[in-house]
Amino acid sequence: MGSVGPVDKGVVSVVDGVTVNFDPIELPGQRIVHGNTFPLVLKMSKPEGEGELSLDEAARALRDLSERGITTELLNKHGAVILRGQPDASPRAMSVLVHAAEEGRGHFPYDQLGLAGSRTVHEKEVFSASEAPPNLWIYQHNEYSRYTKFPSNIHFFCHAAPAKGGESPFAHSAEMYDRVAAELPGFLHDLTEKGLISPDVYRPPGKEAKNFIFTWAGPLAFGRDIQPGDDMATMKRKAEIQAARLTPHFWWRDNDELEVHQHVPAVRRHPATGKPVFFNSLAGRYGTAYDRGATDPPYVGDDGMAFPPATYRDGSTIPKEYLHRTWEISQEIAVLIKTQPGDLALVDNYQVSHGRAPWFEGERKILVSMWDTDKPEEKILDL
Ligand SMILES: [Fe+2]
Repeated sequence: MGSVGPVDKGVVSVVDGVTVNFDPIELPGQRIVHGNTFPLVLKMSKPEGEGELSLDEAARALRDLSERGITTELLNKHGAVILRGQPDASPRAMSVLVHAAEEGRGHFPYDQLGLAGSRTVHEKEVFSASEAPPNLWIYQHNEYSRYTKFPSNIHFFCHAAPAKGGESPFAHSAEMYDRVAAELPGFLHDLTEKGLISPDVYRPPGKEAKNFIFTWAGPLAFGRDIQPGDDMATMKRKAEIQAARLTPHFWWRDNDELEVHQHVPAVRRHPATGKPVFFNSLAGRYGTAYDRGATDPPYVGDDGMAFPPATYRDGSTIPKEYLHRTWEISQEIAVLIKTQPGDLALVDNYQVSHGRAPWFEGERKILVSMWDTDKPEEKILDL
């Protein structure tokens, strides 16, 4: 873990004679977690008199930081780094920037599997974030943390921001762990000892729900090999092959619905900081179910969608009051960032969860890009 460091004084990149400064700036609501600013916000600019920063200059500078190990150092220390100051808010700009940042440190694109949501591909490795209706909260979760496979990093890019609302909330999973440990020690003990079963129910193609539109046949769910014209039996066979890559625990329900159970730990340890992290989606899943009136059996929401809750791995029920308080804590510690077009938020998915605040006017377009590492020293650890 780094020096006091480049961080507090800012970071400088010089590539082919072009200097780019990364200077810390303050945003409302930033927190200090374990002594470090969360999230770190850096303003990118060229020195006085050297003109405006271009997308390509920003990308070269970012690649330089990554090749020098600084991107990883900053993410290990701060969990999330928001970069402001490059002028291009297009999906292509995000693609260029994230490729520079991640390829520069030897990471590769994460291959999504089992997506329980809808996402549109905008550019190479650039997807729309959730396409759920704007009036709905999306609560804190580490991306794909209910799953046996998940990305090391998820980055967010602001393409368009509404004047009011639609903030990007981030919460630090080490702070979340600390808070749950302090307030709900019995719950944390049970979670640590028992682990979780995360259930998901996927509707069949043509029977999508109202708010969260997805089916098992989606290309980012289990339908990557499904061809137009495949009959139901063929589609199911192809989906089974993909589901088996995540878990052996899946089965078909009535009406061609697919139920998938993934057995996962609820808490883990960050490979660089050594700190325990609350790495799961309990808060996010409970909050969504709560808003839909689906936190009691039969766990069906006012939108007709099934919200089966996570259980302990022995199949026993997690007391609802624990889930409710966990959800509240996740909202209490979240930092609501008002991103501007062109902002790139680099996020360590292992130690930072994310969500989405609702908005009621204007357009909010946040794009995401997911990356992974195969370096053993960078993989998340069991507690
Ligand atoms: Fe997400």
